[in-house]
Amino acid sequence: MPGDRNDEIQVALRDHLAWWGLRHIESDAAYFAWQRDVFSLQELATLHQHVEAKRLATDGPSAEIAFYDLTAQPRFVPALYSQRYEYYLQVGSRVARQLDGAQTMLDVGCGIGLLTTFYAKQCPDATVVGIDRSPASIALARQRAQELGLANLRFECLDLDQQELSGRFDLIIATHCLLQAEQDPGLPSSDWLDFARALDTNAQQTFEQRTGLGPRLDPLRGALASHGRMIVFEKARQLARRIPLQRALAARGLAPLRSPEPIRYHSIEEVTDDGPLYVTGLVSSSNVLPWDEAPEPDGVPPLHVERLRSVPAEQDQPLYENHGTSAQQAWLDLPAKQVVEQVTRKEADGRQLHVEWGRADGLVYLYCANTFDQRQLVVIEPARAAMVQTYYKEIIGSQPDGGREVLR
Ligand SMILES: C[S@@+](CC[C@H](N)C(=O)[O-])C[C@H]1O[C@@H](n2cnc3c(N)ncnc32)[C@H](O)[C@@H]1O
Repeated sequence: MPGDRNDEIQVALRDHLAWWGLRHIESDAAYFAWQRDVFSLQELATLHQHVEAKRLATDGPSAEIAFYDLTAQPRFVPALYSQRYEYYLQVGSRVARQLDGAQTMLDVGCGIGLLTTFYAKQCPDATVVGIDRSPASIALARQRAQELGLANLRFECLDLDQQELSGRFDLIIATHCLLQAEQDPGLPSSDWLDFARALDTNAQQTFEQRTGLGPRLDPLRGALASHGRMIVFEKARQLARRIPLQRALAARGLAPLRSPEPIRYHSIEEVTDDGPLYVTGLVSSSNVLPWDEAPEPDGVPPLHVERLRSVPAEQDQPLYENHGTSAQQAWLDLPAKQVVEQVTRKEADGRQLHVEWGRADGLVYLYCANTFDQRQLVVIEPARAAMVQTYYKEIIGSQPDGGREVLR
């Protein structure tokens, strides 16, 4: 798509967000000051209670629905939803670039319709449907669609987990709706040495059930036209969540139509990395791409042992430090490695952890790895070997079973 069209979409989206009363906010301080202007102390306390109840909810969707009903009160919307201003810009503009050619669109879990109304505005000739299970969100969405004069848009209050979805769509948009179980760590890799996940149908099904992913994807897949596309964007940056999400899509016959695009945005001062945005189609379509289960490049410079020898030692600074997935390759590349101490064990939450320290060609290193894809390599000069030993003891001592259960 030409740059001009992208710019047009960005400008139109900013105008649209402004129409909803949203603002770009630079600092947490400014955001909280705005909240204090809008909310009474009692309202703030109620809001926090709802956030907590939603976070802890284990007995069905009522706490989540109550949370979204509360946040859909028109007076609260600008101050609350501005926290996601950057999210709307990043996600909304990318989705809007994919709308061409779609005559029937479904925005599932549309919330108050902030983006749905934008998509409908962008495509006046398409029929757009937004569904959500929060009645107050749908009430506000309908009101705003009317104010915007959007005759091509309708909203339905529907719980995708419980109620039947009718209609057939050539574009289904699911952003931050299918895999909201944020606390769920996903599926561990087979081994601390490996990022790969075994094809374990039971583990996959359990993941899909406990997160609600499967029960949501099935009706959506059923409502997708044979030539249709599905856009999916979820909190699935970590491989442990990304792989089962991709496998769930693949199992329903969907594959990427373009390279998945990682999205990073600011939630005011905090940088948020979500999983990639997927534009998928049925595998019968031409030009589908294979699913990629490799870790994303993490951007950490590779280890060059020879160069480290000329780096001046700094107090409290390692010669080399890598907290990304590429730490594994750097650790494998360490020359003449001699392990001094190591432990591999299963943690209380089921993950396997490996920690070791040793010497490598005149240097000292500490390496940690687990089956949730975390890796950490620190390399220092021998004069500070005691520091590495202390870290090693701290890491193995900080775990409940103190490293006694050695697996390998
Ligand atoms: C985080 S909001 C995302 C809203 C919007 N899609 C976006 O990208 O900003 C998640 C929305 O999904 C809705 N939702 C979650 N599960 C749902 C379900 N099973 N059926 C319908 N809506 C659901 C919630 O009510 C909420 O409004």
